[in-house]
Amino acid sequence: MRPLLSAAAAAAVLLLLLPLAAGQRLRGFSYQLDCGAASSSTDSRGLRWDPDGPYVSAGSARPLSVQGLLDPALASLRAFPYRTNAKFCYALPVDPNRRYLLRLTFFYGPTSTAPPVFDLIVDGTFWTAVDTADDVLAGSASHYEAVFPARGRNLTFCLGVNPDYTKSGPFINALQVIQLHDSVYNATDFTGSAMGLIARTKFGSIGDVERYPDDSFDRYWQPFPDRKHAVSSTHNVTSADFWNLPPPDVFNTALVAEQNSPLVLQWPPISLQNGSYYVSLYFADTLANSSRTLDVNINDYQFYEGTVTSAGLSVFATQWILSGLTRVILTSKSVLPPLINAGEVFGIFPIGRLTITRDALAMESMKRSLQNIPDDWIGDPCMPHGYAWTGVTCDEGQNIRVISLNFSSMGISGSLSPDIANLTALTDISFANNSLSGTIPDFINLGKLQRLHLNDNKLNGTIAQTLGTIQPLRELFLQGNDLGGAVPQNLLNKTGLTSKFCPGNQFTQPQC
Ligand SMILES: *[C@@H]1O[C@H](CO)[C@@H](O)[C@H](O)[C@H]1NC(C)=O
Ligand SMILES: *[C@@H]1O[C@H](CO)[C@@H](O)[C@H](O)[C@H]1NC(C)=O
Ligand SMILES: *[C@@H]1O[C@H](CO)[C@@H](O)[C@H](O)[C@H]1NC(C)=O
Ligand SMILES: *[C@@H]1O[C@H](CO)[C@@H](O)[C@H](O)[C@H]1NC(C)=O
Ligand SMILES: *[C@@H]1O[C@H](CO)[C@@H](O)[C@H](O)[C@H]1NC(C)=O
Ligand SMILES: *[C@@H]1O[C@H](CO)[C@@H](O)[C@H](O)[C@H]1NC(C)=O
Ligand SMILES: *[C@@H]1O[C@H](CO)[C@@H](O)[C@H](O)[C@H]1NC(C)=O
Ligand SMILES: *[C@@H]1O[C@H](CO)[C@@H](O)[C@H](O)[C@H]1NC(C)=O
Ligand SMILES: *[C@@H]1O[C@H](CO)[C@@H](O)[C@H](O)[C@H]1NC(C)=O
Ligand SMILES: *[C@@H]1O[C@H](CO)[C@@H](O)[C@H](O)[C@H]1NC(C)=O
Repeated sequence: MRPLLSAAAAAAVLLLLLPLAAGQRLRGFSYQLDCGAASSSTDSRGLRWDPDGPYVSAGSARPLSVQGLLDPALASLRAFPYRTNAKFCYALPVDPNRRYLLRLTFFYGPTSTAPPVFDLIVDGTFWTAVDTADDVLAGSASHYEAVFPARGRNLTFCLGVNPDYTKSGPFINALQVIQLHDSVYNATDFTGSAMGLIARTKFGSIGDVERYPDDSFDRYWQPFPDRKHAVSSTHNVTSADFWNLPPPDVFNTALVAEQNSPLVLQWPPISLQNGSYYVSLYFADTLANSSRTLDVNINDYQFYEGTVTSAGLSVFATQWILSGLTRVILTSKSVLPPLINAGEVFGIFPIGRLTITRDALAMESMKRSLQNIPDDWIGDPCMPHGYAWTGVTCDEGQNIRVISLNFSSMGISGSLSPDIANLTALTDISFANNSLSGTIPDFINLGKLQRLHLNDNKLNGTIAQTLGTIQPLRELFLQGNDLGGAVPQNLLNKTGLTSKFCPGNQFTQPQC
C-alpha cells in the first residue's frame, strides 16, 4: 500500500503545482509579454507572462534593481536606441477579424534625469505620446490602454523616437495584447477608428483595482474616492446581458445619492481635450427586486433618462463631445435616490492610412532576401508620417507609395528580390557600397526609375537589355561589382544617362 499511497500523493502535488507553474493565458490570440525578461513567470493572479524576445528584433534587455516590486513584469524593461524618427516594432500574429485591447506598462526606475518621452504607434497609426515623469515622481508605473482592430495577420505595435521630446531612446516593461469578444465595444465602428482609454471606474469602491480573473479581459476597474456615498450590494447581476461584459463584481458596489439630492461626480478625474468620446455607464439597483428612474446629465446635456432595475442596465454614447472637466449629474425621477456602479470613457481617434498592400508585400519580400538589415524594418514601411523605415522615402498622396530606397553603406548582404520590381512608383534605388551577391533582377516594370546605384557590391551575372528601355533613367552606377557579358548597346547610347560601369566587373564591352 505504501508505494501506491506515495504515488497518489506525488500525483496530487503535481496537479496542484502544475497549473501554478504554467500560469493562465487569456483566450484567443492574446499576449502577455514581460519585456526584457529571460524566462516566463506567473503573477499573483495566476496569469502567465512570456519573454518578449521572439516578437521584437531591436533593443536590449535591462533588469531593474528595485526592491519590493509587486508586479514581476516590472523587474525588467527593453530599452531601444535613440535614433531620430526610427520606430521599433513588435509583430504579433493575430486573428485579422478581431479587435484587441492593448495595455502597455512603463516603469523606468530611479533616474536623475527626466525619463524618455516617445510615441506609441499601432499598425501605422499614431496613438499617443508616452510621458511617465509624473508617475515616476509618485513612484508608480504608467499604464496606457487602447482598443484597435486587427488590420492583417500581424498586429504591429511600435515605439517611436521623436526628437521633439527627449534625446533618449524609448523603453517598455510590459505589453499585453488581449483579444476581445466580438460584442465588447461593438457600438464603435472600428473600420475607421480606435479608442484610447481615459478612465474605467468602479464607483463605490475604495479598495483594490478590479481586474483578472474577475474581468476575463484583464481590464482594470479603478476605485473612486468617495466614501460618503459608497454602498455595497450582494445580489448577483449577470454581466452576460451587457455587450461590454463588465465583470459581475463591479455591481457589488455603487455610489448612491442622499435622499432628495442629486449625485454630482467630477468624472473622469482629468481635464479632457476637446474631442469625441465613447462613454459607457453601468447601473444595477443595489436592492433586490427594486427599481428607480434616473436622469443622467453630462455637462448640462441629457445623456439618459430611464429606469434601472436590479437586473442591471448599461447606457452608452459612441460620439459624445467633451472638453475640459466633466460633470456627471444623476437625479432621481422616483422615490429612491439615484445611483451608479461603473463607467468607462475612451477618446475616439481615426485610424491612419497604410502603404498600399502591393508595395508593403514587395518590401517584406525584399527584406526576406537580405541580411544584416536595419532593426526598424518592421511594421508599415511608410506610416505614420515621419516614421518610414530607415532609408525609405514615401509619397503620401492619394495612395501611399514607396518612391525611394536609399540603403547605401548599411552593411547589408544577401540578394536583390525580383519583387523589388513590384514597387512601381520607385524613382530612386541605391544599394551602393553593401555586400549584395547574386544577380540584378529585371527592373522593366519600374517605369519611373531615374537613379539606380548598385555600385560597390558583389553582384554577378549580366545586365539585362530591358534596363535601357526605362525611359526616365538618368543615373546608372554599377562599378565595383562582379558583372560580366557586354553592356547592352541601348544603355551605352542612351541620351541623358550618366553611367559608371568601371572599374571592377569583367565586361567584354566596355572593358574595365
Ligand atoms: C508576423 O510576426 C511573426 C512573429 O513576430 C513574424 O515571424 C512574421 O515574419 C511576421 N509576418 C509579417 C508578414 O510581418
Ligand atoms: C453587439 O453585440 C450584441 C451581442 O452579440 C448584439 O446583440 C448587437 O446587435 C451588437 N451590436 C452591434 C452594433 O453590432
Ligand atoms: C451570487 O453568486 C454566487 C456565485 O455564483 C453565489 O455563491 C451567491 O450565493 C449568489 N448570491 C445571491 C444573493 O444570489
Ligand atoms: C470640439 O470638437 C468637436 C468635434 O471633435 C468640434 O465639432 C468642435 O468644433 C470643437 N469645439 C471647439 C471649441 O474646438
Ligand atoms: C424577488 O422576486 C423573486 C421572483 O419574483 C422572488 O422569488 C423573491 O422572493 C423576491 N425577493 C425579495 C427580496 O423580495
Ligand atoms: C509581385 O507582382 C507579381 C505580379 O503582379 C505577383 O505575382 C507577385 O506575387 C508580387 N510579389 C509580391 C511579393 O507581392
Ligand atoms: C543616400 O543616403 C546617403 C547617406 O545617408 C546620402 O549621403 C546620399 O546622398 C543619399 N543618396 C540619395 C540618392 O539620396
Ligand atoms: C562603405 O560602407 C562602410 C560600412 O559598411 C563604410 O565604413 C565606408 O565608409 C563606406 N564607403 C564609402 C566610400 O562610402
Ligand atoms: C554568382 O555568385 C553566386 C554566389 O554568390 C554563385 O552561386 C553564382 O554561380 C554566380 N553566378 C554567376 C553567373 O557567376
Ligand atoms: C549606338 O550608337 C552607335 C554609334 O554611335 C551606333 O553605331 C549604334 O547603331 C547605336 N545603337 C543603337 C541601338 O542605337
